Amino acid sequence: MSEHDTTSGTVGEPTRRDFLYLTTGMAGAVGAVAVAWPFIDQMRPDASTLALASIEVDVSGVQPGMSLTVKWRGKPIFIRNRTPKEVEEANAVQLTDLKDPVARNANIAADAKATDIDRSAGKGKENWIVMIGSCTHLGCVPLGQSGDFGGWFCPCHGSHYDTAGRIRKGPAPQNLAIPTFTFTTDTVIRIG
Ligand code: FES
Repeated sequence: MSEHDTTSGTVGEPTRRDFLYLTTGMAGAVGAVAVAWPFIDQMRPDASTLALASIEVDVSGVQPGMSLTVKWRGKPIFIRNRTPKEVEEANAVQLTDLKDPVARNANIAADAKATDIDRSAGKGKENWIVMIGSCTHLGCVPLGQSGDFGGWFCPCHGSHYDTAGRIRKGPAPQNLAIPTFTFTTDTVIRIG
């Protein structure tokens, strides 16, 4: 059989050309795995991050309307200093309008309602909100100061969260989770 003869093999028996295609295909697959691995490896939190049970964050430079994202136990944590208007908008929302009426706040009772005060850092600190930046649908990282409700928007499948991080529209089932945190001074937050 000549190198160019692709018709003379019996059915089911690979010709030399088929074999070349197969070999090339395999090299491609191995190449793709070799390239993908460093990316996957980079996405894992390193040992020092995992070891940090708690972190302290200085928020003195975070003015109203600004936010900060820090990493804690391998997860992004959103810290936002909300404007009075954003707090007002969140306060005006009725619990009956919420898809998830539960606070999802690790600092208070598990069955607390998702009022703005119970989602925020509490009395006197209502402007601050601290949340785990992981969409409750499939875990993408939502974008801040965006979406139909001015809070966060997850572009993966279109989930919109309000300025209190409560799910308002889209496939995400729950409000963004609030981790254990406390203000240790007026401008320092300890997370964890
Ligand atoms: S992961 Fe956010 S909408 Fe699907």
